[in-house]
Amino acid sequence: MKIIIGSDHGGFRLKSFLIHALTLKGHEVEDLGTDSGERAVDYPDFAAAVARKVVADPTAVGIVICGTGIGASIAANKVAGVRCALVYDGYTARMAKEHNNANVLALGGRTTAEEIALDCVVTWLNATYQDGRHQPRLDKIAALECPLGPLGSGPLGSAGK
Ligand code: RB5
Repeated sequence: MKIIIGSDHGGFRLKSFLIHALTLKGHEVEDLGTDSGERAVDYPDFAAAVARKVVADPTAVGIVICGTGIGASIAANKVAGVRCALVYDGYTARMAKEHNNANVLALGGRTTAEEIALDCVVTWLNATYQDGRHQPRLDKIAALECPLGPLGSGPLGSAGK
């Protein structure tokens, strides 16, 4: 699995650990930075870079990390086509794939221990999207990205005509 990963300074340490661990497990991991835990940077820059690459390459998934995972997840979810889930344990990681088909995982470098974070990633990668009743819900989320709605049929559609 190709994994695109990025973090701010608050997530740098966990990012380094995950890159090492996931590479050992045979995954192809592309690191979009940051490259230091000492120099403060802005998490939206790195979350957006990961999110845009994942949208451009449907065979890839993304991991974004900041201090809590909160800011990185908010930023990644602004990129159309991204379903980013902030997870803290194996259960939420599994649900993120089974119910939400999350294509980006957010983790907190200051809130989640390394081994738990790795378990989250592995659980998410190994889980299967359950489709079925979940797909209409994901379709509604996707519709929120386009306020005019498909073919101008959304709630603001007539205003746009
Ligand atoms: C940076 O200090 C911190 O605010 C950031 O890593 C993240 O936790 C924001 O949500």
